[in-house]
Amino acid sequence: MSTINKTPIDAGVVKKKIEASGLEKVGLGAIRELVRLVNEIEKETGEKFVRMEMGVPGLPPPQVGIEGEIEALRKGVASKYPMIEGEDMLKSEISRFVKNFLNIDVIPKHCIPTVGSMQGAMASFLVSCRRDAKKDTMLFIDPGFPVQKQQQKVLGLKFESFDVYNYRGDKLKAKLESYLEKGNISTILYSNPNNPSWICFTESELQIIGELANKYDVIIMEDLAYFAMDFRKDLSKPGVPPYQPTVANYTGNYILLISSSKSFSYAGQRIGMLVISNQLFDRKFPDLKRFFKTDGFGYSMIYGAVYSLSSGTSHSAQYGLAAMLKAANDGKFNFVESVKEYGERAKIMKKIFTDNGFKIVYDMDDDQPLADGFYFTFSYPGMDGVSLLEELLYYGVSAIALITTGSERIEGLRACVSQIQRTQFPVLEERLRIFNQHHS
Ligand SMILES: Cc1ncc(COP(=O)(O)O)c(C=O)c1O
Repeated sequence: MSTINKTPIDAGVVKKKIEASGLEKVGLGAIRELVRLVNEIEKETGEKFVRMEMGVPGLPPPQVGIEGEIEALRKGVASKYPMIEGEDMLKSEISRFVKNFLNIDVIPKHCIPTVGSMQGAMASFLVSCRRDAKKDTMLFIDPGFPVQKQQQKVLGLKFESFDVYNYRGDKLKAKLESYLEKGNISTILYSNPNNPSWICFTESELQIIGELANKYDVIIMEDLAYFAMDFRKDLSKPGVPPYQPTVANYTGNYILLISSSKSFSYAGQRIGMLVISNQLFDRKFPDLKRFFKTDGFGYSMIYGAVYSLSSGTSHSAQYGLAAMLKAANDGKFNFVESVKEYGERAKIMKKIFTDNGFKIVYDMDDDQPLADGFYFTFSYPGMDGVSLLEELLYYGVSAIALITTGSERIEGLRACVSQIQRTQFPVLEERLRIFNQHHS
Protein backbone atom coordinates (compact mmCIF):
# COMPACT_ATOMS: atom_id res chain seq x y z
CA MET A 1 0.00 0.00 0.00
CA SER A 2 2.88 2.28 0.79
CA THR A 3 3.87 2.16 -2.87
CA ILE A 4 0.44 3.35 -4.08
CA ASN A 5 -0.11 6.18 -1.61
CA LYS A 6 2.33 8.96 -0.92
CA THR A 7 3.80 8.23 2.49
CA PRO A 8 5.32 10.73 4.94
CA ILE A 9 8.79 9.25 4.33
CA ASP A 10 10.10 8.76 0.78
CA ALA A 11 9.01 5.19 0.00
CA GLY A 12 11.86 4.65 -2.48
CA VAL A 13 14.48 5.35 0.18
CA VAL A 14 12.77 3.22 2.81
CA LYS A 15 12.52 0.30 0.41
CA LYS A 16 16.14 0.65 -0.68
CA LYS A 17 17.42 0.80 2.90
CA ILE A 18 15.33 -2.18 3.94
CA GLU A 19 16.77 -4.20 1.08
CA ALA A 20 20.29 -3.06 1.86
CA SER A 21 19.91 -3.91 5.57
CA GLY A 22 20.47 -7.59 4.82
CA LEU A 23 17.69 -8.48 7.24
CA GLU A 24 15.56 -11.30 5.95
CA LYS A 25 12.56 -9.76 7.66
CA VAL A 26 12.92 -6.27 9.05
CA GLY A 27 10.11 -6.90 11.51
CA LEU A 28 12.16 -9.69 13.11
CA GLY A 29 15.24 -7.51 13.48
CA ALA A 30 16.93 -7.07 16.85
CA ILE A 31 16.55 -3.68 18.54
CA ARG A 32 20.04 -2.47 17.60
CA GLU A 33 19.57 -3.62 13.98
CA LEU A 34 16.42 -1.52 13.73
CA VAL A 35 18.21 1.42 15.32
CA ARG A 36 20.85 1.24 12.59
CA LEU A 37 18.27 0.94 9.79
CA VAL A 38 16.23 3.91 11.03
CA ASN A 39 19.42 5.98 11.46
CA GLU A 40 20.21 5.34 7.81
CA ILE A 41 16.74 6.24 6.57
CA GLU A 42 16.79 9.43 8.64
CA LYS A 43 20.21 10.34 7.29
CA GLU A 44 19.24 9.91 3.65
CA THR A 45 15.79 11.52 3.81
CA GLY A 46 16.59 14.21 6.37
CA GLU A 47 13.28 13.30 8.06
CA LYS A 48 13.15 12.65 11.80
CA PHE A 49 11.35 9.47 12.86
CA VAL A 50 9.10 9.01 15.88
CA ARG A 51 11.53 6.57 17.43
CA MET A 52 10.03 4.04 19.75
CA GLU A 53 12.26 1.02 19.10
CA MET A 54 14.86 1.33 21.84
CA GLY A 55 14.56 1.82 25.58
CA VAL A 56 17.02 4.69 25.94
CA PRO A 57 16.31 7.13 28.75
CA GLY A 58 15.03 10.40 27.31
CA LEU A 59 15.78 12.42 30.44
CA PRO A 60 19.03 14.02 31.62
CA PRO A 61 21.15 12.15 34.19
CA PRO A 62 20.85 13.39 37.80
CA GLN A 63 23.33 16.10 38.70
CA VAL A 64 24.23 14.36 41.96
CA GLY A 65 25.52 11.34 40.01
CA ILE A 66 27.56 13.46 37.63
CA GLU A 67 29.13 15.39 40.50
CA GLY A 68 29.95 12.18 42.34
CA GLU A 69 31.67 10.82 39.29
CA ILE A 70 33.62 14.00 38.51
CA GLU A 71 34.87 14.20 42.08
CA ALA A 72 36.06 10.59 41.91
CA LEU A 73 37.80 11.20 38.59
CA ARG A 74 39.54 14.27 40.03
CA LYS A 75 40.81 12.09 42.86
CA GLY A 76 42.43 9.83 40.27
CA VAL A 77 40.31 6.66 40.34
CA ALA A 78 40.59 6.31 36.56
CA SER A 79 44.09 4.86 36.80
CA LYS A 80 43.17 2.24 39.38
CA TYR A 81 41.45 -1.10 38.95
CA PRO A 82 38.30 -1.18 41.06
CA MET A 83 37.74 -4.08 43.45
CA ILE A 84 35.83 -6.82 41.63
CA GLU A 85 33.22 -7.07 44.36
CA GLY A 86 32.70 -3.28 44.25
CA GLU A 87 33.73 -0.28 46.32
CA ASP A 88 32.72 -0.47 49.98
CA MET A 89 30.78 2.78 50.04
CA LEU A 90 28.69 1.70 47.03
CA LYS A 91 28.04 -1.73 48.52
CA SER A 92 26.79 -0.09 51.72
CA GLU A 93 24.51 2.29 49.80
CA ILE A 94 23.04 -0.59 47.76
CA SER A 95 22.35 -2.47 50.98
CA ARG A 96 20.65 0.64 52.42
CA PHE A 97 18.74 1.14 49.15
CA VAL A 98 17.21 -2.34 49.16
CA LYS A 99 16.24 -1.88 52.81
CA ASN A 100 14.70 1.54 52.15
CA PHE A 101 12.87 0.81 48.90
CA LEU A 102 12.23 -2.97 48.99
CA ASN A 103 12.20 -3.42 52.77
CA ILE A 104 14.59 -6.38 52.61
CA ASP A 105 17.84 -7.09 54.43
CA VAL A 106 20.91 -7.91 52.38
CA ILE A 107 24.38 -7.30 53.80
CA PRO A 108 26.74 -5.08 51.75
CA LYS A 109 29.02 -8.04 50.93
CA HIS A 110 26.21 -9.53 48.83
CA CYS A 111 25.55 -6.33 46.84
CA ILE A 112 27.76 -6.19 43.76
CA PRO A 113 28.02 -3.54 41.06
CA THR A 114 28.00 -4.86 37.49
CA VAL A 115 28.49 -3.34 34.04
CA GLY A 116 24.77 -2.74 33.67
CA SER A 117 22.14 -5.33 34.46
CA MET A 118 23.15 -6.89 31.17
CA GLN A 119 26.37 -8.06 32.77
CA GLY A 120 24.56 -8.91 35.99
CA ALA A 121 22.34 -11.27 34.00
CA MET A 122 25.26 -12.81 32.11
CA ALA A 123 27.17 -13.47 35.35
CA SER A 124 24.05 -14.87 37.02
CA PHE A 125 23.39 -17.21 34.10
CA LEU A 126 26.98 -18.48 34.32
CA VAL A 127 26.51 -19.44 37.96
CA SER A 128 22.82 -20.01 38.57
CA CYS A 129 22.18 -22.06 35.43
CA ARG A 130 25.24 -24.26 35.92
CA ARG A 131 25.08 -24.96 39.64
CA ASP A 132 23.38 -28.36 39.30
CA ALA A 133 24.05 -30.75 36.42
CA LYS A 134 20.49 -32.08 36.61
CA LYS A 135 18.96 -28.62 36.41
CA ASP A 136 20.19 -27.49 33.05
CA THR A 137 17.29 -25.37 31.77
CA MET A 138 16.22 -21.80 32.40
CA LEU A 139 12.60 -20.68 32.41
CA PHE A 140 11.69 -17.22 31.17
CA ILE A 141 8.33 -15.82 32.20
CA ASP A 142 7.66 -13.95 28.98
CA PRO A 143 7.19 -11.56 27.29
CA GLY A 144 10.71 -10.43 28.02
CA PHE A 145 13.87 -8.59 27.11
CA PRO A 146 15.14 -10.34 23.95
CA VAL A 147 18.86 -9.87 24.67
CA GLN A 148 18.66 -12.15 27.70
CA LYS A 149 17.75 -15.03 25.41
CA GLN A 150 20.62 -14.04 23.17
CA GLN A 151 22.89 -14.29 26.23
CA GLN A 152 21.57 -17.78 26.94
CA LYS A 153 22.22 -18.83 23.35
CA VAL A 154 25.74 -17.37 23.35
CA LEU A 155 26.45 -19.36 26.52
CA GLY A 156 25.03 -22.54 24.99
CA LEU A 157 22.40 -22.85 27.73
CA LYS A 158 18.93 -24.32 27.36
CA PHE A 159 15.78 -22.39 28.06
CA GLU A 160 12.02 -22.59 27.92
CA SER A 161 9.47 -19.79 28.10
CA PHE A 162 5.77 -18.98 28.13
CA ASP A 163 3.67 -15.84 27.70
CA VAL A 164 2.27 -15.06 31.15
CA TYR A 165 -0.65 -12.90 29.98
CA ASN A 166 -3.16 -15.77 30.08
CA TYR A 167 -1.76 -17.18 33.34
CA ARG A 168 -2.20 -14.29 35.71
CA GLY A 169 -3.33 -14.71 39.34
CA ASP A 170 -4.00 -18.24 40.62
CA LYS A 171 -3.50 -19.72 37.14
CA LEU A 172 0.22 -18.93 37.43
CA LYS A 173 0.82 -21.71 39.97
CA ALA A 174 -0.28 -24.65 37.83
CA LYS A 175 1.47 -23.20 34.79
CA LEU A 176 4.78 -22.83 36.62
CA GLU A 177 4.48 -26.27 38.21
CA SER A 178 3.97 -27.84 34.79
CA TYR A 179 7.59 -26.82 34.08
CA LEU A 180 9.06 -27.25 37.55
CA GLU A 181 7.72 -30.79 38.06
CA LYS A 182 10.08 -32.04 35.36
CA GLY A 183 13.01 -31.25 37.66
CA ASN A 184 15.25 -29.66 35.03
CA ILE A 185 14.61 -25.96 35.72
CA SER A 186 17.49 -24.19 37.47
CA THR A 187 16.35 -20.59 37.35
CA ILE A 188 13.29 -18.50 36.57
CA LEU A 189 13.63 -14.98 35.20
CA TYR A 190 11.06 -12.24 34.74
CA SER A 191 11.07 -8.46 34.72
CA ASN A 192 8.73 -6.51 36.97
CA PRO A 193 7.38 -4.07 35.78
CA ASN A 194 7.51 -6.12 32.62
CA ASN A 195 9.40 -5.14 29.52
CA PRO A 196 7.61 -5.06 27.03
CA SER A 197 4.02 -5.44 28.28
CA TRP A 198 4.28 -3.24 31.41
CA ILE A 199 2.23 -5.71 33.46
CA CYS A 200 3.23 -5.80 37.14
CA PHE A 201 3.04 -8.93 39.27
CA THR A 202 0.78 -8.71 42.29
CA GLU A 203 1.84 -9.71 45.81
CA SER A 204 -0.07 -12.98 45.50
CA GLU A 205 1.68 -13.84 42.24
CA LEU A 206 5.07 -13.07 43.78
CA GLN A 207 4.11 -15.29 46.69
CA ILE A 208 3.28 -18.14 44.28
CA ILE A 209 6.64 -17.71 42.55
CA GLY A 210 8.55 -17.52 45.85
CA GLU A 211 6.86 -20.57 47.36
CA LEU A 212 7.49 -22.63 44.23
CA ALA A 213 11.14 -21.52 44.29
CA ASN A 214 11.36 -23.00 47.79
CA LYS A 215 9.48 -26.19 46.90
CA TYR A 216 11.54 -26.99 43.78
CA ASP A 217 14.77 -25.29 44.86
CA VAL A 218 14.99 -23.03 41.83
CA ILE A 219 16.58 -19.60 41.84
CA ILE A 220 14.49 -16.58 40.96
CA MET A 221 16.21 -13.86 38.97
CA GLU A 222 14.01 -10.84 39.49
CA ASP A 223 14.87 -8.18 36.94
CA LEU A 224 13.96 -4.79 38.37
CA ALA A 225 15.11 -2.75 35.37
CA TYR A 226 12.13 -0.43 35.91
CA PHE A 227 12.52 -0.15 39.66
CA ALA A 228 9.68 1.79 41.35
CA MET A 229 8.27 2.80 37.95
CA ASP A 230 4.76 1.44 38.51
CA PHE A 231 3.52 4.99 38.95
CA ARG A 232 0.09 3.88 40.23
CA LYS A 233 1.71 3.67 43.68
CA ASP A 234 4.13 6.08 45.32
CA LEU A 235 7.21 3.91 45.82
CA SER A 236 9.53 6.87 46.22
CA LYS A 237 9.79 7.39 49.99
CA PRO A 238 12.75 5.72 51.73
CA GLY A 239 11.74 3.48 54.58
CA VAL A 240 8.03 4.18 54.08
CA PRO A 241 5.53 1.70 52.58
CA PRO A 242 4.43 0.86 49.95
CA TYR A 243 7.67 -0.66 48.71
CA GLN A 244 8.61 -1.98 45.28
CA PRO A 245 7.02 -5.46 45.33
CA THR A 246 9.56 -8.29 45.30
CA VAL A 247 9.78 -12.06 45.44
CA ALA A 248 12.41 -11.58 48.17
CA ASN A 249 9.53 -11.43 50.65
CA TYR A 250 8.68 -15.06 49.88
CA THR A 251 11.94 -16.93 49.22
CA GLY A 252 15.62 -16.81 50.07
CA ASN A 253 16.47 -18.21 46.61
CA TYR A 254 16.74 -14.93 44.80
CA ILE A 255 19.02 -12.71 42.78
CA LEU A 256 17.87 -9.15 42.10
CA LEU A 257 19.05 -7.24 39.06
CA ILE A 258 18.58 -3.53 39.68
CA SER A 259 19.50 -1.39 36.71
CA SER A 260 20.44 2.26 37.06
CA SER A 261 19.70 2.87 33.36
CA LYS A 262 16.01 3.81 33.50
CA SER A 263 15.15 4.65 37.12
CA PHE A 264 18.28 6.81 37.41
CA SER A 265 18.66 7.81 33.71
CA TYR A 266 22.21 6.47 33.87
CA ALA A 267 22.31 4.04 30.92
CA GLY A 268 25.44 5.52 29.37
CA GLN A 269 27.63 4.74 32.36
CA ARG A 270 26.76 1.06 32.24
CA ILE A 271 26.35 0.34 35.92
CA GLY A 272 23.81 -1.87 37.63
CA MET A 273 23.38 -3.70 40.91
CA LEU A 274 23.44 -7.44 41.46
CA VAL A 275 21.94 -8.33 44.82
CA ILE A 276 22.19 -11.92 46.06
CA SER A 277 20.15 -12.99 49.06
CA ASN A 278 22.05 -13.59 52.28
CA GLN A 279 20.89 -17.21 52.22
CA LEU A 280 21.84 -17.95 48.61
CA PHE A 281 25.23 -16.23 48.70
CA ASP A 282 26.57 -18.70 51.24
CA ARG A 283 25.08 -21.85 49.73
CA LYS A 284 27.36 -24.53 48.34
CA PHE A 285 26.69 -26.34 45.06
CA PRO A 286 29.27 -29.09 44.35
CA ASP A 287 28.52 -28.98 40.60
CA LEU A 288 29.85 -25.42 40.44
CA LYS A 289 33.33 -26.94 40.72
CA ARG A 290 32.96 -28.02 37.11
CA PHE A 291 33.49 -24.36 36.18
CA PHE A 292 34.79 -22.50 39.22
CA LYS A 293 37.42 -22.95 41.90
CA THR A 294 34.92 -23.31 44.70
CA ASP A 295 31.42 -24.59 45.28
CA GLY A 296 30.31 -21.34 46.98
CA PHE A 297 27.54 -19.54 45.09
CA GLY A 298 28.48 -15.94 45.94
CA TYR A 299 32.20 -16.55 45.71
CA SER A 300 31.80 -18.12 42.25
CA MET A 301 29.68 -15.17 41.17
CA ILE A 302 32.30 -12.58 42.09
CA TYR A 303 35.66 -14.27 41.58
CA GLY A 304 34.51 -16.66 38.86
CA ALA A 305 31.85 -14.96 36.73
CA VAL A 306 32.21 -11.19 37.24
CA TYR A 307 36.02 -11.47 37.24
CA SER A 308 36.00 -13.39 33.94
CA LEU A 309 33.61 -10.96 32.30
CA SER A 310 35.21 -7.60 33.10
CA SER A 311 37.33 -7.52 36.26
CA GLY A 312 34.77 -5.30 37.92
CA THR A 313 32.79 -2.21 37.07
CA SER A 314 34.00 1.24 35.99
CA HIS A 315 35.50 2.94 39.02
CA SER A 316 34.04 6.42 38.57
CA ALA A 317 30.57 5.10 37.69
CA GLN A 318 30.55 3.35 41.08
CA TYR A 319 31.03 6.70 42.77
CA GLY A 320 28.32 8.30 40.61
CA LEU A 321 25.82 5.58 41.50
CA ALA A 322 26.83 5.68 45.18
CA ALA A 323 26.19 9.43 45.27
CA MET A 324 22.71 9.00 43.73
CA LEU A 325 21.81 6.13 46.05
CA LYS A 326 23.04 8.02 49.10
CA ALA A 327 20.93 11.03 48.16
CA ALA A 328 17.89 8.77 47.59
CA ASN A 329 18.50 6.87 50.85
CA ASP A 330 18.84 10.12 52.78
CA GLY A 331 15.53 11.35 51.32
CA LYS A 332 17.28 14.20 49.47
CA PHE A 333 16.69 12.96 45.91
CA ASN A 334 13.32 11.67 44.71
CA PHE A 335 14.49 9.50 41.80
CA VAL A 336 10.94 8.34 41.01
CA GLU A 337 9.64 11.87 40.60
CA SER A 338 12.36 12.47 38.01
CA VAL A 339 11.09 9.68 35.72
CA LYS A 340 7.32 10.07 36.17
CA GLU A 341 7.26 11.99 32.91
CA TYR A 342 7.34 8.64 31.07
CA GLY A 343 3.93 7.69 32.48
CA GLU A 344 2.46 11.02 31.40
CA ARG A 345 3.82 10.59 27.89
CA ALA A 346 2.50 7.03 27.63
CA LYS A 347 -1.01 8.14 28.54
CA ILE A 348 -1.09 10.74 25.76
CA MET A 349 0.60 8.52 23.19
CA LYS A 350 -1.77 5.60 23.80
CA LYS A 351 -4.68 7.93 23.10
CA ILE A 352 -3.07 9.16 19.87
CA PHE A 353 -2.76 5.53 18.74
CA THR A 354 -6.27 4.45 19.69
CA ASP A 355 -7.82 7.60 18.16
CA ASN A 356 -6.29 6.55 14.85
CA GLY A 357 -7.53 2.99 14.56
CA PHE A 358 -4.82 1.19 16.60
CA LYS A 359 -5.52 -1.13 19.54
CA ILE A 360 -3.58 -1.56 22.78
CA VAL A 361 -2.46 -5.21 22.94
CA TYR A 362 -1.67 -5.85 26.61
CA ASP A 363 -4.33 -3.59 28.09
CA MET A 364 -5.12 -5.25 31.42
CA ASP A 365 -2.93 -5.92 34.43
CA ASP A 366 -4.56 -8.98 36.01
CA ASP A 367 -7.98 -7.50 36.79
CA GLN A 368 -6.95 -3.83 36.62
CA PRO A 369 -6.31 -1.48 33.70
CA LEU A 370 -2.62 -1.43 32.79
CA ALA A 371 -0.43 1.34 34.24
CA ASP A 372 1.11 3.99 32.02
CA GLY A 373 4.88 3.64 31.95
CA PHE A 374 8.01 3.28 29.88
CA TYR A 375 6.46 0.93 27.29
CA PHE A 376 3.10 0.12 25.79
CA THR A 377 2.04 -2.36 23.14
CA PHE A 378 -0.19 -1.79 20.12
CA SER A 379 -1.55 -3.42 16.98
CA TYR A 380 -3.51 -2.47 13.87
CA PRO A 381 -6.54 -4.56 12.86
CA GLY A 382 -5.86 -7.06 10.11
CA MET A 383 -2.06 -6.83 10.22
CA ASP A 384 0.54 -9.01 11.93
CA GLY A 385 3.25 -7.30 13.93
CA VAL A 386 6.12 -8.03 11.57
CA SER A 387 4.28 -6.48 8.58
CA LEU A 388 3.03 -3.59 10.70
CA LEU A 389 6.54 -2.73 11.83
CA GLU A 390 7.83 -2.64 8.26
CA GLU A 391 4.84 -0.67 7.00
CA LEU A 392 5.17 1.93 9.76
CA LEU A 393 8.69 2.73 8.62
CA TYR A 394 7.15 4.38 5.52
CA TYR A 395 5.24 6.61 7.93
CA GLY A 396 8.27 7.58 9.99
CA VAL A 397 7.38 5.54 13.07
CA SER A 398 9.63 2.81 14.52
CA ALA A 399 9.00 0.13 17.15
CA ILE A 400 9.85 -3.55 17.76
CA ALA A 401 7.73 -6.63 17.10
CA LEU A 402 6.33 -8.40 20.16
CA ILE A 403 7.08 -11.75 18.58
CA THR A 404 10.78 -11.08 19.25
CA THR A 405 10.04 -10.84 22.99
CA GLY A 406 8.50 -14.29 23.44
CA SER A 407 4.99 -12.87 23.29
CA GLU A 408 2.17 -14.93 21.79
CA ARG A 409 0.57 -11.73 20.55
CA ILE A 410 2.00 -11.86 17.06
CA GLU A 411 -0.10 -8.91 15.96
CA GLY A 412 1.61 -6.56 18.39
CA LEU A 413 4.46 -4.06 18.51
CA ARG A 414 6.20 -2.55 21.52
CA ALA A 415 6.46 1.21 21.74
CA CYS A 416 8.98 2.84 24.04
CA VAL A 417 7.92 6.34 25.04
CA SER A 418 11.23 7.57 26.38
CA GLN A 419 12.70 9.22 23.31
CA ILE A 420 9.51 10.96 22.19
CA GLN A 421 9.39 14.57 23.22
CA ARG A 422 6.00 16.21 23.73
CA THR A 423 6.78 18.51 20.79
CA GLN A 424 6.67 15.42 18.54
CA PHE A 425 3.11 14.45 19.48
CA PRO A 426 1.52 16.46 16.60
CA VAL A 427 3.87 14.73 14.12
CA LEU A 428 2.97 11.33 15.55
CA GLU A 429 -0.70 12.18 15.34
CA GLU A 430 -0.42 13.31 11.73
CA ARG A 431 1.55 10.24 10.64
CA LEU A 432 -0.83 7.80 12.30
CA ARG A 433 -3.80 9.63 10.81
CA ILE A 434 -2.35 9.20 7.32
CA PHE A 435 -1.50 5.56 8.06
CA ASN A 436 -5.07 4.93 9.15
CA GLN A 437 -6.41 6.70 6.06
CA HIS A 438 -4.27 4.50 3.80
CA HIS A 439 -5.11 1.24 5.56
CA SER A 440 -8.68 1.39 6.83
C1 LIG B 1 14.08 -5.96 31.38
C2 LIG B 1 15.45 -5.38 31.20
N1 LIG B 1 16.49 -5.95 31.82
C3 LIG B 1 17.72 -5.47 31.70
C4 LIG B 1 17.98 -4.37 30.91
C5 LIG B 1 19.40 -3.91 30.78
O1 LIG B 1 19.73 -2.97 31.73
P1 LIG B 1 21.15 -2.28 31.80
O2 LIG B 1 21.10 -1.04 30.97
O3 LIG B 1 21.33 -1.98 33.26
O4 LIG B 1 22.17 -3.24 31.30
C6 LIG B 1 16.95 -3.74 30.23
C7 LIG B 1 17.20 -2.60 29.36
O5 LIG B 1 16.42 -2.19 28.55
C8 LIG B 1 15.64 -4.27 30.38
O6 LIG B 1 14.60 -3.74 29.76
